[in-house]
Amino acid sequence: MTGAGSEGVLDARVLVVMGVSGSGKSTVAATVAERLGWDFAEGDAMHPQANVDKMHAGTPLTDEDRWPWLEVVGGWVREHLGSGTPGVVTCSALKRSYRDVLRAPGVVFVHVAGSADLIGGRMAQRTGHFMPTSLLASQLATLEVPGPDEAHITVAADRTPDEEADEVVERLGLAVR
Ligand SMILES: Nc1ncnc2c1ncn2[C@@H]1O[C@H](COP(=O)(O)OP(=O)(O)OP(=O)(O)O)[C@@H](O)[C@H]1O
Ligand SMILES: [Mg+2]
Repeated sequence: MTGAGSEGVLDARVLVVMGVSGSGKSTVAATVAERLGWDFAEGDAMHPQANVDKMHAGTPLTDEDRWPWLEVVGGWVREHLGSGTPGVVTCSALKRSYRDVLRAPGVVFVHVAGSADLIGGRMAQRTGHFMPTSLLASQLATLEVPGPDEAHITVAADRTPDEEADEVVERLGLAVR
């Protein structure tokens, strides 16, 4: 499907909803997929067992750990593009090099963007616990925002999930089911 408007023309057949932890990727992605009737998947659920074991042990993943995982997410993306089945997948995709593994004609990155104050404050409110400041800070430090040459839209994380999903659908010119 083709979106026209302030974005120019973006060919959006698979959306990769990206951003730092707690930005609302899962919430926005599930809402958009539901509206469009598109497949939905959580990139976090695609980690190889070795990564799951590491994360359970509290060991931070290295980029070397991430490549095989990103290949699995990329496989999901390519399968959907290849079969003409539109889909929405979450993946933090903080670095451009990670996005390079997922990038293909028909892929649009949807960056859910919020400040440390917004995301940290929301997490504290929701769970009664502050997200470790170090995690959020390190995620924001790692984040390389999509450049003008990358097929993407940026959605501000400071509204309701419904409003954010509306913006995605509208800016990409997608047809609600
Ligand atoms: N637009 C929003 N307004 C208010 N609360 C929100 C919004 N979006 C998400 N939330 C809440 O913020 C928390 C984090 O959202 P979510 O799990 O979707 O983020 P995430 O980016 O997928 O995080 P993770 O990287 O940890 O998977 C959840 O408690 C969710 O209900
Ligand atoms: Mg999530």
